[in-house]
Amino acid sequence: MPAPALDIQKQIDQLELRRAFGTFLTGVTVLTTTDGEGTPRGMTANSFTSVSLDPPLLLVCVGKSAASFPAFAKSACFAVNLLHERQDGVSSLFASKSAAKFESIGHDVVHTGAPVLTDCLTWFDCSVQQRVDAGDHMILIGRVQAFGTSPSPPLGFCRGRYAEVKDPLPPEWSPSRNMIVGYIIEADGRILLRATSEGKWSLPIAAGRQKTTLLDLNNAKTVALLPDATFLYSIFDVSEGDPGYIIYRGRLAASGEAADDLAPGLRFFPIDDLPFDAIGERDIVAMLRRYVHERSQNRFGIYVDAIDGGRVAMISDPIATRSPAAE
Ligand SMILES: Cc1cc2nc3c(=O)[nH]c(=O)nc-3n(C[C@H](O)[C@H](O)[C@H](O)COP(=O)(O)O)c2cc1C
Repeated sequence: MPAPALDIQKQIDQLELRRAFGTFLTGVTVLTTTDGEGTPRGMTANSFTSVSLDPPLLLVCVGKSAASFPAFAKSACFAVNLLHERQDGVSSLFASKSAAKFESIGHDVVHTGAPVLTDCLTWFDCSVQQRVDAGDHMILIGRVQAFGTSPSPPLGFCRGRYAEVKDPLPPEWSPSRNMIVGYIIEADGRILLRATSEGKWSLPIAAGRQKTTLLDLNNAKTVALLPDATFLYSIFDVSEGDPGYIIYRGRLAASGEAADDLAPGLRFFPIDDLPFDAIGERDIVAMLRRYVHERSQNRFGIYVDAIDGGRVAMISDPIATRSPAAE
């Protein structure tokens, strides 16, 4: 039986209305922008909606009473960072009035200049397309200039509480498919490679998708990665019937001499002098060449292969500079 209707002749009770709106299950996002001084500003929001594919548009609603409202009302760009299931703490931080929201959260500039969280489920870097005044909120319509996504399960929100999503990944993502999980690991301008039994070099591989930043590479020595600098980079199949590759990029937490304390068979090579001729797999070479090129511009896309030749998940015009601060 449907819930009883409110008598619309009566004044709508705001608390009841808020509760009714709150029964709609959503994800959770952090909206980010910069204020007039260039200081990053951000707030938690679940009012995100995709709007259009062509042109690529989305919207969010920003409360006029939010301390960061003036920044969103003026800035020419903003980013929407969708949170993954382990980021309820990030949501609470950005829903607070803390003056130090960005101090403990890695962020980076990708395209428009809006801060993009280095760890999140999916991000959309947008220029402002339109602002619409709407009661106690402003509808902010953004045009997606760049975006990136990851296979993490999303953080949900319903009735004022965080919610878990049941079966968050489609079957092709399931670990039972045993995709090969490889890592492009950087330290001090170098990339870590692994010697293969055929006397060639390849990327280090891990036993599966790791939830922690401690990586057990080649079942040998454990290395620690910087938690905020680990991203999905590429997904591809090398041949018909192979299990497929998921490649992450990460940064070693250690640097200098400590970085070189490695298990046998692992070695760092300068990023601009990789032994491409000694890497066996053609697709890994192609991917590493793309990585080296993108690293030189500090601007990355996520490659997903497809029947039509694959695509890089980044919509872009010219190159924007990217602050290395968060990496
Ligand atoms: C899950 C969740 C969703 C929220 N969604 C929105 C929203 O869509 N729009 C909004 O203006 N505030 C929303 N808020 C409230 C803001 O995050 C909160 O007002 C915050 O204090 C704003 O930060 P600021 O005052 O520093 O700008 C949400 C809060 C939570 C916890």
